Amino acid sequence: MSKKMKAVLLPQYGEPDVFRLENVDRPHMAAHNEVLIEVHAAGVNPFDCKLRRGYLQQLFPFNLPHVIGNDIAGIVVDKGFDVSELEIGDRVYGLIDPMCSGGYAEYTATKSYLVRRMPKNLSFEEAASVPMAGVTAWHGLKTMANVQPGQRVLVQAGAGGVGSYGIQIAKHFGAWVATTCGTGNADYVKSLGADQVIDYTKSDFRNEVSDIDIVLDPIGREVILRSYEVIKPGGTLLVILRGDQIEMEARERLMKKHNVTTKVVAFSAQPEVLDEMRPLFESGVLKPTLTRVLPLEQAAEAHRLSETGHTRGKMVLKIK
Ligand SMILES: NC(=O)c1ccc[n+]([C@@H]2O[C@H](COP(=O)([O-])OP(=O)(O)OC[C@H]3O[C@@H](n4cnc5c(N)ncnc54)[C@H](OP(=O)(O)O)[C@@H]3O)[C@@H](O)[C@H]2O)c1
Repeated sequence: MSKKMKAVLLPQYGEPDVFRLENVDRPHMAAHNEVLIEVHAAGVNPFDCKLRRGYLQQLFPFNLPHVIGNDIAGIVVDKGFDVSELEIGDRVYGLIDPMCSGGYAEYTATKSYLVRRMPKNLSFEEAASVPMAGVTAWHGLKTMANVQPGQRVLVQAGAGGVGSYGIQIAKHFGAWVATTCGTGNADYVKSLGADQVIDYTKSDFRNEVSDIDIVLDPIGREVILRSYEVIKPGGTLLVILRGDQIEMEARERLMKKHNVTTKVVAFSAQPEVLDEMRPLFESGVLKPTLTRVLPLEQAAEAHRLSETGHTRGKMVLKIK
């Protein structure tokens, strides 16, 4: 195996065109509990764009140049002596610690617990569309809000990465699901199982739904503040974007006024959720929401598209 690999480097923070495609040294496993993965596909998330712009430098102080990319699917090609749950040759999907050399490259090394065997029926591209968005939606709806059969759930931005998995996960647990999206995405969110579709360009969701048990909100700002008005007393609002001080104070006021619990879904790597989702993909209960595949060389274009805020489902970079 060549010790060099193709990687998209982030040499400085900035616009999408800062990316440079180069041949660099392959990462090696730094610890006995790591695996080396030949990356076949890497998911693209708005989180990656924030990293690229340097907005998250305090949390993730990179030593530039750095390779970003949190969502990957690929094949285990080497493993540390303490790794017993995975074998060389396993097809895996998972999450890469942002501080490690990431998925926009032919290889990545990561702690083995962060990656899991991927659903047998998915392609690498489909599997790479799952980790961050799918785990976030599951963590919010199931782990934090404990969604129950018969509950009424509103998924904001149902056509987006988090929302497209959110609709399916809420339906899987037996909820009735309403969702918001633009005109061109109505059929798409219906195909994911939404019971009621609200075109946010034509009507205010406050006129369309009420008595909601759980709102999953990946948008924030005025959308989240309006969301309190449709939740029944005792209901839960799941905040995906933490928001600034003004938004947090406004949420605090509305939470008391409407007797609603607010929970911030801080992303934490919960790879065990990937194990829970695997059989659901294999039985067809969950569908991958991959809608666009670009070659690794077009990482900058993928970021430009992501930053429009209007991509459908998930976008993935194909590496092999
Ligand atoms: N806290 C965490 O752990 C965590 C984890 C994952 C993501 N996030 C964050 O959550 C946010 C969303 O992530 P994502 O991956 O879902 O983003 P995304 O895929 O880029 O979202 C794009 C979607 O948002 C929809 N949209 C935009 N404005 C809307 C509006 N006013 N009403 C309804 N839908 C609207 C668009 O639909 P139309 O084209 O139809 O307008 C589009 O389909 C990002 O900021 C991301 O960084 C946080």
